[in-house]
Amino acid sequence: MKNLLIVANLKSYKTEIEAREWLEAFKKIKELGQNTSGKEIVICPPFTLLSLFNSFILDNDLPAKVGAQNVSSFDEGAYTGEINARQVKDFAEFVLVGHSERRRSFNETDAELSKKIEFSLKYGLEPIFLVSSNEDIIPHGVKIVAYEPLFAIGTQTPDTPENANSASAKIKEKNVEKVLYGGSVNPQNVKSFTGMENIDGVLVGGASLDAKEFIGIVQNA
Ligand code: PGA
Repeated sequence: MKNLLIVANLKSYKTEIEAREWLEAFKKIKELGQNTSGKEIVICPPFTLLSLFNSFILDNDLPAKVGAQNVSSFDEGAYTGEINARQVKDFAEFVLVGHSERRRSFNETDAELSKKIEFSLKYGLEPIFLVSSNEDIIPHGVKIVAYEPLFAIGTQTPDTPENANSASAKIKEKNVEKVLYGGSVNPQNVKSFTGMENIDGVLVGGASLDAKEFIGIVQNA
């Protein structure tokens, strides 16, 4: 059986109090026991909550790792407002790079994205690089890609598992080890994606905001 990577992207949601509620509810993941074996869980909260998620997961011995949703395209230095890979590494093992929301709303370019990958790798973060088609440029050194077609993000209209599978197969031809599917994944449809030969996990936005629903996705994956 293949190992699955199941990633929660909390986007720009949750205050500290709401995050604590989410984490308390997420403790139930332990009750799944054997059901989580072969499934690696990564939770990507906003920067302000990275420390809280990291320490709560460690203190409660929860089967999950932490990822950031973004990272600076600069190394440490005089870059007011930026959070660099070396800083992120204190709290997280993974980082999302190139989400379509960032490409669209913050005009992130291919050149910036490859700097983000370069610094992530320099400081030992594992990047999860997001693309919306199998033709997007994938920077050197990326091992995990998430395929998220634009029409499927936050729309309740996922891609078909067959289409996602064939896009994933093409992405894997580019020296990529794991391809995740993202876009309107929920507890009911997750298995149709993770059951596909070339799909190694899922990246979940909306349905991860409720810890119970996210646990349902892990359980059914
Ligand atoms: P969604 O978002 O699950 O709400 O469609 C996925 C994502 O944007 O990563």
